[in-house]
Amino acid sequence: MTRSNVSRVFHRSLVTPFPEASLAQGAYITDASGRQYLDASGGAAVSCLGHGHPQIIAAIKDQLDRMAFAHTSFFTSHPAEALADKLSHKAPGGAWRVYFVSGGSEANEAALKLARQIQVERGQPTRDHFISRQFSYHGNTLGALSVGGRLANLDLFGPILLPNVRKIMPCFAYRWKDEGEDDTEFGLRAARALELEILKLGPRRAIAFIAETVVGATLGCVPAVPGYFKEIRRICDEHGVLMILDEVMCGMGRCGTLFACQAEGIVPDIITIAKGIAAGYQPLGAMLVREELAEEIEKGSGAFVHGHTYVGHATACAAGLAVQEVFEDQDIVPRVARLGTKLRARLEGCFGDHPHVGNLRGRGLFQGLEIVATRASKEPFPAEYGIARRLKARAMENGLICYPFAGTVDGRRGDHVLLAPPFIIAEAQLDELCGKLSRSLDEAIAEARA
Ligand SMILES: Cc1ncc(COP(=O)(O)O)c(C=O)c1O
Repeated sequence: MTRSNVSRVFHRSLVTPFPEASLAQGAYITDASGRQYLDASGGAAVSCLGHGHPQIIAAIKDQLDRMAFAHTSFFTSHPAEALADKLSHKAPGGAWRVYFVSGGSEANEAALKLARQIQVERGQPTRDHFISRQFSYHGNTLGALSVGGRLANLDLFGPILLPNVRKIMPCFAYRWKDEGEDDTEFGLRAARALELEILKLGPRRAIAFIAETVVGATLGCVPAVPGYFKEIRRICDEHGVLMILDEVMCGMGRCGTLFACQAEGIVPDIITIAKGIAAGYQPLGAMLVREELAEEIEKGSGAFVHGHTYVGHATACAAGLAVQEVFEDQDIVPRVARLGTKLRARLEGCFGDHPHVGNLRGRGLFQGLEIVATRASKEPFPAEYGIARRLKARAMENGLICYPFAGTVDGRRGDHVLLAPPFIIAEAQLDELCGKLSRSLDEAIAEARA
């Protein structure tokens, strides 16, 4: 028997119904009942140009009229070529080749496989391990999940993940820095963890190191301390380990530079991007690899042993190209840096003395707040309080979309909220964001305590 009032969509939650989004314009989404939400997290840092952007929509329509899709085992397309050119030109450290996929997990799968292929074609097939960081997120496909460091995933999927992955500590100063240690010392210690792991594995065993340049969902917008990534680059170079930076969430202007690693002064070997690359108007992701590394494959086997049906999808690439054009025409990335400073100042004003906000962090329009029971001890609320879950629900009731998450301290305890408002947000809307967040947080804590 079927229940006629049951949604046939296999939703993320089978128990909590979500409202139906029916209209979206600028920084707001409206549901079918007419309630309006300020989209202060772009879903999960996706809708970077807000909703209903006429230039992106026109570019997609135009591409659909010309040619929606042509399989990349037969053809290339103008949008893919033009977007790859732009990204290669704008990425740090010289030329890049760009492999287009449909999202962040696929981009990371491609990165892991390409890294292995490069090592094999260099004549180093004994390299069979990846090294990544605890408290990271790289996607939900099995390869990406294997290098991810969300402890909550391990109970369920641990037994079926890739065995050859080693995890090192994150570079998360607020919780991992020792007493008396300064940022430089901490950064060197955190980077040294990579070298120790490489040495433990033994010569020519590590394929690549993968890390989020600024940690997103699992820790709430945590940049590394200055100098950390420079040391990571040095270690990777010394040991022949490829360096992959996952900028699926923090890249594409989100942190005030087009690529987040531009603020670190280093050039990785592979960069993965998604989300903001097409601003949510089409599903698109990409893996960028340094030209010299692509040439190694070109002069070797001649082909990357990988592929999906929708690799280089012309309409998705047309959306991505239009996003880059809007960035250029409207000087968007410097605007993100400016607005980021303004958002941070407002957050400091609203939450700087809040008894339950232990730490404010982030870069550009990628800001995180860590919620604690006690500021002095950094003690989190008990996991059973469900602060993150309650905050999300309260915020939605108050007309705010933000991105709270639990497990900041040990995978179970600890709560934070991530903010990733659209780059087109108005200053008055930053006030609305802070007001609604402040009210929602206080309500969530009061509700949990009751
Ligand atoms: C840093 C990071 N990497 C990878 C992914 C996976 O991307 P997708 O959900 O598009 O597969 C995400 C998604 O949130 C992410 O934040």
